[in-house]
Amino acid sequence: MRVLVVGGGAREHAIAWGLDRSHAEVVVASPHPHPGLDRIARASLRADPAQAGPLVEFAKAQGVRYAVIGPEAPLAAGLADALRAAEVPVVGPSKAGAQIESSKRYCRELLTKHDIRASPRFVALSSPEEVDAAVHDFPGEFVVKPVGLTSGKGVWVQGRDFPAPSDGAAYAKQLLTNSSGGVLLEEKLEGEEFSVMAFVTDSGVYPMPVVQDYKRAGVGDSGPNTGGMGSYSQRDHLLPFLSAEHRDAAFDVVKRTAAALRSEGIAYRGILYGGFMLTARGPLLMEFNARFGDPEGINVISLYEDGDFAGLLEGVAFGRVDPTLLRFRQRASVVKYLVPPGYPASPTAGGILEVDEPGIEALGVHVFYGGVEPAGPARVKVGTSRAVALVGEASAIAEASHRVDAAAARVRGEFAWRSDVGSRDDVLKRTEHVRRLLSPGAKPSPLPLSVARPDAPPSSAGTLAQVMGPA
Ligand code: AMP
Ligand code: GLY
Repeated sequence: MRVLVVGGGAREHAIAWGLDRSHAEVVVASPHPHPGLDRIARASLRADPAQAGPLVEFAKAQGVRYAVIGPEAPLAAGLADALRAAEVPVVGPSKAGAQIESSKRYCRELLTKHDIRASPRFVALSSPEEVDAAVHDFPGEFVVKPVGLTSGKGVWVQGRDFPAPSDGAAYAKQLLTNSSGGVLLEEKLEGEEFSVMAFVTDSGVYPMPVVQDYKRAGVGDSGPNTGGMGSYSQRDHLLPFLSAEHRDAAFDVVKRTAAALRSEGIAYRGILYGGFMLTARGPLLMEFNARFGDPEGINVISLYEDGDFAGLLEGVAFGRVDPTLLRFRQRASVVKYLVPPGYPASPTAGGILEVDEPGIEALGVHVFYGGVEPAGPARVKVGTSRAVALVGEASAIAEASHRVDAAAARVRGEFAWRSDVGSRDDVLKRTEHVRRLLSPGAKPSPLPLSVARPDAPPSSAGTLAQVMGPA
């Protein structure tokens, strides 16, 4: 079966790799030459994924069974509608469905309308006067968000990205003059973030392993928000700080949102991804995305059992998933992105990275290329976005993290990265953070923790050492 993959990042490289491993013939529409996709693809179209015409023509000419749209921009522009109108089934929602991501206001209002009580306090604003009034009245610290797409980089959090309410107001007003969609002011949530992705189609909503993304640019969560510097998942598909109950509560929000979209007349076939904060009030929703997370999708795809990934996605595109194809290995996984120096605010493009792929693969780590172009054998030229994703796995998170570090040592050239993704110290810090939040006043005592063991019945508890690996 032939499958079209749309997009040219590391997430799309991982999607194409997963399809290729399950014996699909992959064809690719990427805006630029791509060292990974070009190797896998039986045919390629250089195209801006938001320009539907040439893409639809390519899909028809290639006789693809279905298409997978990786990034949010073509979904928001209605590429899935154009493909479906030409009778090409798609993994990815219509323009109407993609509003769940492309308009944060639509998302919040949908949840309110359908009584899905997972939102922080929020107010949608469209004029400077409304900003002043809302900031004046807002109880406590807040977050300023552009309503539209900003690749994860437009959200400013009080105390992190701006100090005083008046600075937040100034930023909100600046956003109002620069974009047409308006801004949201949201209550600042305190907690740990986690990503719940699910396949959504006519036959149901099917969860994937939960992943934690590292949004801030610098080690120790310093620096500005990014598209995501790395991510990890745990072998039981929970997280060290996330109980099965909290995961189920978050998944319930995803399921109910899928049902809400359907009741609005939107036949959603694609991935629905809830970005949650685990707070003292339980999991609250920060945003929905209409696609695989980047990097979170890379964790999940790399954990897919050797088998029929193409059949699983085919089910999503055609409306009926075979649940026996939902097979993710019980392993921990860690992704670390190598990014251009200065990313995200002022990335230096044009640098060369020498990537020892055979050496990296020999460590059991995979390389997925992001915004880079081929520059000769084993060399890539870096652009302004995230460059190279390295994904490793092991039975424990910290061990997978070490493997990726060893792989990163086999990349030469100038890059920035977060070596702390999935490191023992970092994950312990996050776990302790949640423990303090959920039981204020408790004394720190990191072990043992109530973390479900993958090979034990769900009600029994394991220790952190079992999921993290030895110190
Ligand atoms: P979003 O694009 O809405 O997911 O926001 C990007 C990032 O901003 C999130 O991953 C969080 O790190 C942060 N963020 C978003 N909303 C909130 C909130 N209400 N409280 C605290 N941090 C937030
Ligand atoms: N990693 C965050 C995102 O994919 O939006």
